[in-house]
Amino acid sequence: MVTFDEAWQIADGIEGWLLKEQGRALFEAAHSLAPGTRAVEIGSHRGKSATLIALGLPPAARLTAVDPFDDPRWGGGPESLAAFNANLTAAGVNERVDLFKGLSEEASATWSEEPVGFLWVDGAHDVTSTLKDFDGWLPHLARGARLYVHDAFSAVGTTHAIFRRFFFARNVRFVGSVRSLAMFEVGPVSIVGRTRSALTLIARLGFFARMIAIKLARRSGHPRLERRLMTTDNEPLI
Ligand SMILES: C[S@@+](CC[C@H](N)C(=O)[O-])C[C@H]1O[C@@H](n2cnc3c(N)ncnc32)[C@H](O)[C@@H]1O
Repeated sequence: MVTFDEAWQIADGIEGWLLKEQGRALFEAAHSLAPGTRAVEIGSHRGKSATLIALGLPPAARLTAVDPFDDPRWGGGPESLAAFNANLTAAGVNERVDLFKGLSEEASATWSEEPVGFLWVDGAHDVTSTLKDFDGWLPHLARGARLYVHDAFSAVGTTHAIFRRFFFARNVRFVGSVRSLAMFEVGPVSIVGRTRSALTLIARLGFFARMIAIKLARRSGHPRLERRLMTTDNEPLI
């Protein structure tokens, strides 16, 4: 087993959109994967998050990475597949990762492996695709599974899907976030837990509004407004 800092040294060199503290959250979730369950990643790109998750997994546990690698508009063309394979090989984790080369909805519809103990959702960020991710994979998630979602509070479609499915939900509880990475836990939620989960989700809407405002200011060419909305210089929008 490697430490998180060792894993981050390896993954940091891989192109992607993941902050160090978000990488730590993925590594730790992988590390605490329940025996008899599997980790699944939706959206692999060049393997940054897959490398961190695979390095964090307990011995003998496996990760299934799902990505069609067929559309450069999504950052996932054939060159990304070649980079994904090369990066996993260089990190020494290719033996622990199974690749499903296809869409999330195709993988969830044909899933026949063990229950999923950790699901990392980082594919397409429109509302329709994200709802397919949630609806397709929820039946495969083990009780107590972790469900982590990227761009949860920085992409309109992802935020919309989260509120549609998990706001005051009976079976999924919001447990926290690292900027736009949202962490949920799967299992029955009491009425108190549902209320707390709903209130903490609402509390993230201020961050979400600020991320969207910064993006709009950038797109419409208002650099001074953009800077005023940021809390630090070059604040990441993830
Ligand atoms: C933001 S990137 C993923 C980044 C990656 N997790 C990392 O750490 O570098 C999004 C990826 O999702 C893939 N993708 C888009 N829609 C998808 C879908 N419906 N199912 C699976 N993967 C999808 C794209 O091909 C692209 O490679």
